[in-house]
Amino acid sequence: MTAANARPDLMTDMPDPALRYHRFGSPLEVLHLEPQPDGPLPQEQMRVRMSCAPINPSDLIPIAGAYRHRVMPPLVAGHEGVGMVTQAHGAWRALKGRRVLPLRGPGTWQQSLDCDPRLAVPVPDDIPDHVAARAWINPMTAMAMLRRWPVEGCHVLLTAAGSNCARLLAQWALCCGARSVTGICRSAHHREALTDMGVHVLDQEDHAAIDAAAGRAERLFDATGGRLADRLLTHMAPEGIFVAYGLLSGAPISPRNMNARVRHFHLRDHIAGLNHLQWQESFKTLWALLRDIDMPATRDFRLTDWRQALIWHDSHPAVKPMLMLS
Ligand SMILES: NC(=O)c1ccc[n+]([C@@H]2O[C@H](COP(=O)([O-])OP(=O)(O)OC[C@H]3O[C@@H](n4cnc5c(N)ncnc54)[C@H](OP(=O)(O)O)[C@@H]3O)[C@@H](O)[C@H]2O)c1
Repeated sequence: MTAANARPDLMTDMPDPALRYHRFGSPLEVLHLEPQPDGPLPQEQMRVRMSCAPINPSDLIPIAGAYRHRVMPPLVAGHEGVGMVTQAHGAWRALKGRRVLPLRGPGTWQQSLDCDPRLAVPVPDDIPDHVAARAWINPMTAMAMLRRWPVEGCHVLLTAAGSNCARLLAQWALCCGARSVTGICRSAHHREALTDMGVHVLDQEDHAAIDAAAGRAERLFDATGGRLADRLLTHMAPEGIFVAYGLLSGAPISPRNMNARVRHFHLRDHIAGLNHLQWQESFKTLWALLRDIDMPATRDFRLTDWRQALIWHDSHPAVKPMLMLS
């Protein structure tokens, strides 16, 4: 039996396991738990023992091959997470024993990884692991979009409003002085939490209410694409701005609806424009915002139970699965 096809539940004693994929496909089919080669720490790197990492749609979409023009397996999966520095060189030794987010390097769904210390983000002591592990992708996306397309005084409309990213958008839009925030939800179970935040909730099948809300919206942040996005664009007022940042439906926006109102946001493009100092500074703002935020609950899964965690991700969208890595 090779490492690539070994049953993961037989591999609890594997040294430094990593969840890797060798080809694109369904995550349940193509991910495998494999040992990560160990060796001396390269001079320009820092070694981090991972504590935990969430499972986000943004982690799963690349495994299915959506970005095959940019990323090529074999790769360790996972984009964000938190861990502790175990080895470092030179001045970076001061970080030994500190919690960091080892971002923008190798995949985070592994027990031990080497990362660029200039991009590793130290975590303040009062931020718990389950918040720190989710501090990058959705928070930075929500913050950057609200900065680029300010919402003060605007009627704001969100799709997939129960998602982690939309919840952050909703709460911060209200803090930024949005006139109203309306959230479209596919499932009713998000209604209470969103209403408590001050969001007016619409059912995704309530077409009349959705059309009216689109007609009012001055800022629309869409994570679904497909038919819902097409419907919203058809009814949106000409002066409104439609920000497309996700394709949860799996379908694109119809080219006939693409016009000057549609803007696209990609976190990878946003961070490409930040130098190291601006990157680290962004987290100072994010930590302050995250201290006072309602993030969805998490459920912990051991790395060896990654299959159950993926199944949970698809069947329990209100509770974020967290891989416990050490
Ligand atoms: N552009 C960027 O740089 C960027 C950065 C971060 C995130 N994103 C995108 O933002 C989106 C949300 O990510 P997340 O981590 O916040 O997700 P999440 O917390 O895991 O939540 C996913 C939510 O999406 C909803 N959903 C799934 N398929 C749907 C569909 N076809 N129609 C309507 N709702 C659907 C589910 O709703 P129910 O519970 O109602 O079933 C679930 O609540 C993803 O598309 C992700 O790729 C993009």
